Amino acid sequence: MEVIVIRFSFHNPTKIHFGQAMIKMIGKELREAGQHKVLLICGSGSIRANGVYDQVCNSLRDNGITWIEAWGVKANPDLEKTREIINIAKSEAVDSVLAVGGGSVIDTAKAVCAGFYLSDVWDAFCRRAEILRALPLYTVLTISATGSEMNGNAVITNEKERKKWAISSLLLYPKVSVVDPDIQVSLPPQQTVNGALDAIAHILEYYFMDSELHSTRAIDTALIKSIIESTDFLIRNPQDMAARANLAWCATLALNGISGAGMQGGDWACHQIEHALSAYNPKISHGEGLGVIFPAWIEFMAERDPIRFYQWAKQVWNEDTPSMGVKRFREKIKAWGSATSLRELGFQEADLPELCNILSINPMIGTLSRFGTSEIEAILMLAY
Ligand code: NZQ
Ligand code: ZN
Repeated sequence: MEVIVIRFSFHNPTKIHFGQAMIKMIGKELREAGQHKVLLICGSGSIRANGVYDQVCNSLRDNGITWIEAWGVKANPDLEKTREIINIAKSEAVDSVLAVGGGSVIDTAKAVCAGFYLSDVWDAFCRRAEILRALPLYTVLTISATGSEMNGNAVITNEKERKKWAISSLLLYPKVSVVDPDIQVSLPPQQTVNGALDAIAHILEYYFMDSELHSTRAIDTALIKSIIESTDFLIRNPQDMAARANLAWCATLALNGISGAGMQGGDWACHQIEHALSAYNPKISHGEGLGVIFPAWIEFMAERDPIRFYQWAKQVWNEDTPSMGVKRFREKIKAWGSATSLRELGFQEADLPELCNILSINPMIGTLSRFGTSEIEAILMLAY
């Protein structure tokens, strides 16, 4: 008789304040934790336009917190800016960090928290240095996508070397994150869709793993369907607050440990391939890139191992074959106004070898199947 082993550890220390007007909690949390001098890290200005910045400042002021500000983190955040902010953190001797923004701002803040105690933060990304200490991190999330508000990962691009790489540490989980879906009303529709595609992709990275933990796959099916439904509602009506709330909570659960419990760490080939797209061209949004790569990956994998993909096709798309599931997935992405091919993202066929080159530095791509250059080329051609 086959012995089935189901084993995992789950630990998520982040406290979440979810919902309307919860931003006021952030100053109170900092005060109660005894933080006095906070480094506020922000993006390129959307929080000024939508009033989030004022709400945060009021909360800090009301709770007697002193802060200094670092602005200008861009989407697909880069190493140079991260180093610049680490220097500010060190010279100002801050005692904590508050990120107000999306995954890019939060990831930069995590790298700052770790880099505060390192001579060069990139060493941690190259595994030349271990993260043994980190400043405490607090976040106010403004776009639901990455799950960074409730995980210990940070992804930063070294633009000079065309490396978009990650660090991950229990020390980098935010202490507290505020998720107020109402403040996401100001998102351009494409950004809402990028977030939905990223969240779906996080779940799919786990979905196809060999696991008898059907409870996790049932949760994952429900999360994907809820993300699709909420995004459909938001395309029709960006002011639909129930849909915003559902999308926001699903995106948090998509990469906080819940969706991957018992799923053997997931596959992550699609994320690695997408990170190469953004490393090649930092203007490409992570979610949109995944919307191009994931259907191609499923198409490629299902040809070799169709059994693995039937359940997804049936449960998520009510289709009888993986290829019909992929077709419906691409139709949905297209209906949301997002790209479904590398060509639409601005790539030419002549760029594909360079993408393979960027990826060749990774010792291992994928878990279900370990890809070499020929498999990557085949997936890129299916995506092209
Ligand atoms: O610069 P600001 O003003 O913040 O504008 C942002 C940015 O232009 C804007 N935006 C955010 N909230 C808004 C808003 N505009 C209007 N109203 C609001 N409420 O949206 C744009 C995109 O923001 P960004 O933070 O880049 O988006 P996202 O959260 O999708 O983050 C993407 C980054 O996270 C990484 C990605 O690779 C990418 O670099 N990831 C991080 C992960 C993690 N930490 O666990 C996992 C993911 O797989 C991913 O790799
Ligand atoms: Zn992602």
